[in-house]
Amino acid sequence: MVFRRFRGGAPMPEPLRETVLEPGTAAGVSRRRFLGAVAAGSAGALLAGGALRGEARASISAIEQAQADALAEEDFWSKVRREFLISDELAYMNSGTLGPMPKPVYYAVVDGYRALASDPGRENARQVEAQDDLRQELAAFVNADPGEVALTRNTTEGMSFIANGLDLKPGDEVLCTFHEHPGGLEPWKIKAKRFGVVVKELPFPIPASDPAEILNLFEDAITPRTRVISVSHVTFPTGCMLPVSRLAALARPRGILTLVDGAHAIGMVDLDMHEMGVDFYASSPYKWAGAPVGTGFLYMRRESQDRVWPTVASMGWDDEEAGARRYDRLSQRAGPLLLATLAALEFQNAIGRGRIEERVRALAARLGERLRAIAGVTLYASENPELCCGLTGFALEGFDRIEVVDTLWRRNRVWVRETDYGLNTVRASTHHYNTEDQVDRLADGIQQILTEGTI
Ligand SMILES: Cc1ncc(COP(=O)(O)O)c(C=O)c1O
Repeated sequence: MVFRRFRGGAPMPEPLRETVLEPGTAAGVSRRRFLGAVAAGSAGALLAGGALRGEARASISAIEQAQADALAEEDFWSKVRREFLISDELAYMNSGTLGPMPKPVYYAVVDGYRALASDPGRENARQVEAQDDLRQELAAFVNADPGEVALTRNTTEGMSFIANGLDLKPGDEVLCTFHEHPGGLEPWKIKAKRFGVVVKELPFPIPASDPAEILNLFEDAITPRTRVISVSHVTFPTGCMLPVSRLAALARPRGILTLVDGAHAIGMVDLDMHEMGVDFYASSPYKWAGAPVGTGFLYMRRESQDRVWPTVASMGWDDEEAGARRYDRLSQRAGPLLLATLAALEFQNAIGRGRIEERVRALAARLGERLRAIAGVTLYASENPELCCGLTGFALEGFDRIEVVDTLWRRNRVWVRETDYGLNTVRASTHHYNTEDQVDRLADGIQQILTEGTI
C-alpha cells in the first residue's frame, strides 16, 4: 500500500468516507429549534447578517437550553457535541494540533466570506470595525485589558513578535525548557544567530511530579545575564503544564521578562492573565477554543509593552496610546476568521470556561487511570493535577509510535498524534466533545496493540 507521508515520516491514514456538511443545509438543527432561537434572539450579537445567522444562533441556544435543563454530565456533553460537524464515527483526539470548529464558527466563516463576496466595500468596513470587538471579547475571555491584546495569526507569530522585538545583546540569556515547540524556540534561535543571545534549554523530569522541582531548576539556571524566561504553558510532546505564574513570580523581581507559549491553554483551561502575572502570552484559539485556523492572540502586559519593537509596521505602529494594537498592524486581515473567533468565544462562554476545564481534566484523568493499569504503557503525563491537563503523552513498550497512531486509526477510528523528542510518544488530546466511551476506546485499542500487535 502506498501512503502519502506527513510530518515525522508517519503514513497519512486513509480518510473517513464522510459527507461534508454544506453551509445552509442546517443539518443537525431542527426547524423548531431554529425558529425558536431566532424568535428568542437569545444568543447575543452574533456575526454577519445572511442566510446562516439563524443557524449559528440556534446552536448557541441549544447549549443554553442544555444548561437550563440541568442534564446529567454525559447527556449535557452529548448535546454540546451535536453542535459540532465532527463525524460520529470519529474519536478525534488531536485538538492539540487543530481543533474542530463548532457549527456557529463554521457558519460564521462561510457567512463572512459570502458577505465579502457580495458586498465587499461595506462588509469589509464592518469587519474591520469588528476587530476591536474581538479584542475586547478576547481580553474579557482571558482577564486582560483590551489594550493588552494583539490580534495575531497564531502562537508562532506571537512568539516571533516578542523574540524579534526585544533589544537583547550578545551574551544575554534566554531560559527555555528542553520541550519547547519549534514555534516557540526557533524565534530565539534567530536571535542567537543574529545577535549572540544564549538560549538555554533546561531538562526536567518526565513525568514531572513536583512544580517546586521545576522552579528550582529555573532558579538555579538564572545568572546576571538572564533576560527572558520563555516556556510553554503546556509542553507539546508530553503535556506537562508548567507552573508559569510561579515562574513569573520568580522572574519579575529579578528584572527578567516572562514569555509563555500558550498554544494549548486557551479554551482548555480557564485563563487569567492578570493573575498569572506573565509579561507576554502567545496563543492559538483554533486549537482548543474552536476558532478557525489562522487566528491567534498575543497578550502583552501594559507595563512591558515599551520593551518590544513592533515587527510588522503600518499606520499606527508608533502610537503608544494604542497599546498592544500597534503590534498587529497587519493591514488587511482575514476579517471572516476574526469575526468567527467571536462566535468561538461566545460558544465557549455559553458552556462556561470553568465547566470546560473540569470536563477536559476529568477525561484526561480517566485516560491516565486506564493507561496506568495497562502493562507495557509508559505514561509521561504527571499524576499531579497541577502539572497535567488535556494533553496526555505515553509510549507503548516495543512499539513504534507511528505504527501505533496508524493502527488506532485503522482499527478504532481514534485519531491521535505522535511526537518524538527521544520518547517515542503517542499523544492524545481529550477535549469536551470527546466522550468517556471514546477515552475507553482509545485505552482498549492500546491494550489490543500490546496484546496482538499493530496492523
Ligand atoms: C506548544 C506549542 N507551541 C506552538 C505551536 C505552534 O502553534 P501555531 O501553529 O498555532 O503557531 C504548537 C503547535 O502545535 C504547540 O504545540
